Amino acid sequence: MLSKRMQEAMNAQVNAEFWSAYLYLSMSMHFEKEGYKGIANWFAVQFKEEQDHATIFMNYINSRDGKVTLLPIDAVDTSWDSILHAYEETLRHERVVTGRINDLYTIALEDRDYASQSMLKWFIDEQVEEEETARDYIDALKKIGDNGYGLYMFDKELAARTYTVPAPLATTAE
Ligand code: FEO
Repeated sequence: MLSKRMQEAMNAQVNAEFWSAYLYLSMSMHFEKEGYKGIANWFAVQFKEEQDHATIFMNYINSRDGKVTLLPIDAVDTSWDSILHAYEETLRHERVVTGRINDLYTIALEDRDYASQSMLKWFIDEQVEEEETARDYIDALKKIGDNGYGLYMFDKELAARTYTVPAPLATTAE
């Protein structure tokens, strides 16, 4: 069974993942309106992934005989003055999430909760990828600057992103 402290921390993480989903949905809607369909698509896929992250935590809490408690989701920003600023916010936010995952892992170590340590390893790897992707896009956008053709090509590239079910949910669906 999960410790009370771990259950509370994981429920807070469920809320944080849904907040992330809401943030990226807001970005998706903003860039759709601005005419950047590819960037809107990228953030729409991100929206789905964050809901998956929340689901992985909820499934896990249930599997350990815990209680999932859904908390209110705070408001998110609704507009960004550039694509670069949206990705800078994405990176800042993902770094915060990485810190939260690390804090959960610390609790798992202190509780000698080996199952939670194992479960959290997927998220630790996922956060490395999340931060790297945001950093790569920031680098690209800084090079592009105000170049309209560059932004057009960037938008086209992001239109190709497709959603795939993350591994922890793919295995539980079998
Ligand atoms: Fe759920 Fe973007 O980390």
